Amino acid sequence: MIIGILKETQKGERRVSISPNIAKKLIENGFKVLVEKGAGEESQFKNSYYEDIGATVVKTDVLYKDSDVLVKINPFTEEEIELIKKGQILISQMFHKSLPGLIKAISKKGATTFSLDAMPRISRAQDMDVLSSQNNLAGYKAVIKGANEMTKIFPLMMTAAGTITPSIVLVYGVGVAGLQAIATAKRLGAVVEATDIRPECKEETESLGAKFILVENEEESSDDGYAKVASEDYAKRQKEAVDASLFKADLVITTAMVPGHKAPTLITEEQVKNMKNGAVIIDLAAAQGGNCELSKMNKTVQKYGVKIIGTTISPESVSTNASDLFAKNIFNFIMHLTEENEFKWDLEEEITDQTLIVKDGKIRHNGIKETV
Ligand code: NAI
Repeated sequence: MIIGILKETQKGERRVSISPNIAKKLIENGFKVLVEKGAGEESQFKNSYYEDIGATVVKTDVLYKDSDVLVKINPFTEEEIELIKKGQILISQMFHKSLPGLIKAISKKGATTFSLDAMPRISRAQDMDVLSSQNNLAGYKAVIKGANEMTKIFPLMMTAAGTITPSIVLVYGVGVAGLQAIATAKRLGAVVEATDIRPECKEETESLGAKFILVENEEESSDDGYAKVASEDYAKRQKEAVDASLFKADLVITTAMVPGHKAPTLITEEQVKNMKNGAVIIDLAAAQGGNCELSKMNKTVQKYGVKIIGTTISPESVSTNASDLFAKNIFNFIMHLTEENEFKWDLEEEITDQTLIVKDGKIRHNGIKETV
C-alpha cells in the first residue's frame, strides 16, 4: 500500500503530517511512502532526509495519482478534494462537524476519509490522539511566552547582591495543556498552583510538585474525561477559593474548556483589578471566548497593570516536535487500522467507527448526514 504525505497548504502552517523517522517506520512495516516535494521543509526535514530512509519525493500530481492513502494535518480543501480519486483513503483532521461541506465534496468523489479529531477519548486511543499531542506543546509554549512577557524570572536565586524570590504561576484547567504548563513552570523554578473542575486532577497536579486548589464539587465530577459546564454556585465558590492565589500570581495560564461550549469565564474584570501590577495572563482559551473576561484573541490587552494575552499558541511554532508527535499518532493509527498492510475495516471497533466519517463515498456519521 502506498502512503502519500502531502505538503500542507493552509496559511501559516509549518508542520508536516509524517516526519522522516516515522516514514522510515512505515517503510519497515511494509508500506511504500511518497512525499510531496518540500513537504517537510518548514519543519526542518529536507527532501533528502526522506530519500535517505527510502521514501520517494514526488511532485503534487504524481502523489495524488499514485497514493492509496493521502495523509495531511489540516482539512483537505476544496481544491485538494478536486485532485483526489475514487477509492482513495484520506487521513487528516477534518473537523467534520464544522466543515460538513468538505465532507460532502469528499463523498461525491467516492473517496474514504478518517478524521483524526474524532478520536474517541479512551485509554487505548491515547497514542493516536493528535489534539492531545499538540496541546501538550501548547502548554509548554504558553509558559515560555509568559516568561518572555514578564519582568521577573521564575526561580529563586541567591546572589551576592541579594536573593530573588521565585515567581508564582497559577494554572486554570489541568487538562493536557495545563499539565504541561505546570510541569514546565516547575522545571523553570516557579512556585506553581493549579485548579480544575475535575477533582481527579488533584493527584496529577501534586505528582508534578504543584499545589492543587480544590473546589468541592461532587455533582460536576466527569464520567467521560471531559469537564461539564460549571454551575453558578461552583463558579462562585471557585472564585472564593482561587482569588488569594490569583491576586499574588506573577503569571496566570488559563486552559479551561468544555467541549461544545464557550470557554468558561474564570477571571472577571473585577478580579483583574485586584491582580499584581505587572502580572501576565496567557489565555489559551481565547479562541473559544476566553477564560478571562478581558481577553481578545491574538491581541495583548493591557489593563489595570496586567498584560492579558489571548492566544491559541499554535504548535506550528515548534513545528519540528509537533510534526514528530503528529507523525507518531498517525503511525499508531495506521497500524491500528491495518493488518499486513491492508485495512481491516472493522466497523464495529470503536476507534474505527468513530473516526471513519466517509466510506467509499457514503457518509456514515449521523451528525453530518443531518447537516449536509
Ligand atoms: P480540555 O481542553 O477540554 O479542557 C481543559 C481543562 O479545563 C480540563 O481539564 C477541564 O476539566 C478544565 N475545565 C473546564 N471547565 C472548567 C472550569 N469551570 N474550571 C476549571 N477547570 C475547568 O481538556 P483536555 O486537555 O482535552 O483533557 C481533559 C482530560 O481528558 C484529561 O484528563 C486528559 O488526560 C484526558 N484525555 C484523555 C485522552 C484519552 O484517553 N484518549 C485523550 C485526551 C485527553
